[in-house]
Amino acid sequence: TSKLYQEQHRPQFHFSPAKGWMNDPNGMFFYKGEYHLFYQHYPDKTIWGPMHWGHAVSKNLTHWENLPIALYPDSLGYIFSGSAVVDWKNTSGFGINNQPPLVAIFTYHNMEGEKAGRGDFETQGIAYSNDKGRTWTKFSGNPVVKNTGTRDFRDPKVIWDEAHKQWVMSLAVQDHHEFWVSKNLKEWENSGNFGKEWGNHGGVWECADMFPLKDGNVTKWVLIVNINPGGPNGGSGTQYFVGDFDGKTFILDEALKPFVKNGNGLWLDYGKDNYAGVTWSDIPKADGRRILIGWMSNWQYANIVPTGVWRSAATLPRVLSLKSTSQGYRVSVNPVKELQALRNPAKKALQLSNLNIASSLDVASKLNFKPTLSELELSFEKPQKGKVEIEISNSKGEKYIIGYDSENNTFFSDRTKSGKVDFSDTFAEKVHLAPRLASDKIIKLHVYFDVSSAELFADNGETVITDIFFPNEDYTKMKINTSEKNFKIKTLKVWNLKSTWK
Ligand code: FRU
Repeated sequence: TSKLYQEQHRPQFHFSPAKGWMNDPNGMFFYKGEYHLFYQHYPDKTIWGPMHWGHAVSKNLTHWENLPIALYPDSLGYIFSGSAVVDWKNTSGFGINNQPPLVAIFTYHNMEGEKAGRGDFETQGIAYSNDKGRTWTKFSGNPVVKNTGTRDFRDPKVIWDEAHKQWVMSLAVQDHHEFWVSKNLKEWENSGNFGKEWGNHGGVWECADMFPLKDGNVTKWVLIVNINPGGPNGGSGTQYFVGDFDGKTFILDEALKPFVKNGNGLWLDYGKDNYAGVTWSDIPKADGRRILIGWMSNWQYANIVPTGVWRSAATLPRVLSLKSTSQGYRVSVNPVKELQALRNPAKKALQLSNLNIASSLDVASKLNFKPTLSELELSFEKPQKGKVEIEISNSKGEKYIIGYDSENNTFFSDRTKSGKVDFSDTFAEKVHLAPRLASDKIIKLHVYFDVSSAELFADNGETVITDIFFPNEDYTKMKINTSEKNFKIKTLKVWNLKSTWK
């Protein structure tokens, strides 16, 4: 058995639990210099089971410190997904010594109730901490939101709504989101609903989030809807809507309606491995970013991916921003700038510009490091007809390819021959496609390769793909291939990234 965080397939600059099972990120907030990350966790096995909240903190969103489990299941049920906030004004009364309490809001999933076929087995509970999130006490009055009889009634995401001086909870309820408001985090009232008529309904709506984003002086509200199944390339996926919030409910922008009707959705990520993503609470105003992190897996195969003592990792943290287009607002997704600190100063980065390529460029031979842990930026003029591929491979002939195809104006991610793929029928059944949304002449690919994942942020985050893979040995080769005649790389940069776990 190898040392923790050095096992085969272990992500080197992504968060993954030391041992056991992980799914959704939960309860993220920033307080006193620490980014908190909780997660759906079953410590005893590497498959889904009785849910706890695992816990880690980071000062920089790149290096994570594992902390003891924060919430254990109890007589009311398993601890399902939810959020946490800093209760600055002590509206809940849980604070002591003039310090704001930290309050977690989560779903209780009662297994006995589910087995008995009752419809009310999911309720919302709260817990608080007065020691920087190190220990949590469950509220004696739980549950704070009872169930009105809907099977799926979960994943509360709470924010403070300054304009209306209230807490707002977005809740995923089967085929729509509900909004609940409160003055004290203990008493809640249903104030509105959204979604039955809009967006994708290929599966159950889960993990809600709603927050304001600014475009200059304009403030719009973004509503996140995780859905399983129904994702753009199968299984789990994350769709979003842009509109307004009137203190009671979400109101969809007119301009978006044509794009989210008849079962269509707008997607934050087109890969198969970014699910249940929600955003950090309480990031200081001076910073002002809205940062999302997702679970880098898919319910189609999450329980059977070929990893050892742990299962699943989180995506890289991403900044969400509004992009104004002729067809209404869209959300762009880009990696947080803190990740630049992972660029290894001991290994010289590759930098090329204005280079003509006949059909293939051997990038690896120009690097003085293995491409396994790397960040790449590639820009080129939109090809007339051909494809542009970034291919990483190993001596066994296993390869992963990500790139752009001008034939149908799509980005694609091909893990069909990436290594271990047979553990599931749906893992490598097809090449994953993502539409190019930008229309600039220059195409920009920004890719992070970890040992077992690739994340593409194309055109400054207008199209995103996150996919995982499991080669039998680490990829050592990297090439850029093209079928375009007279293809020219405008710029290429490749950095070696440092592990955050060594
Ligand atoms: C999403 C989800 C949530 C639920 C949790 C259970 O992946 O199904 O809706 O709270 O996982 O672990």
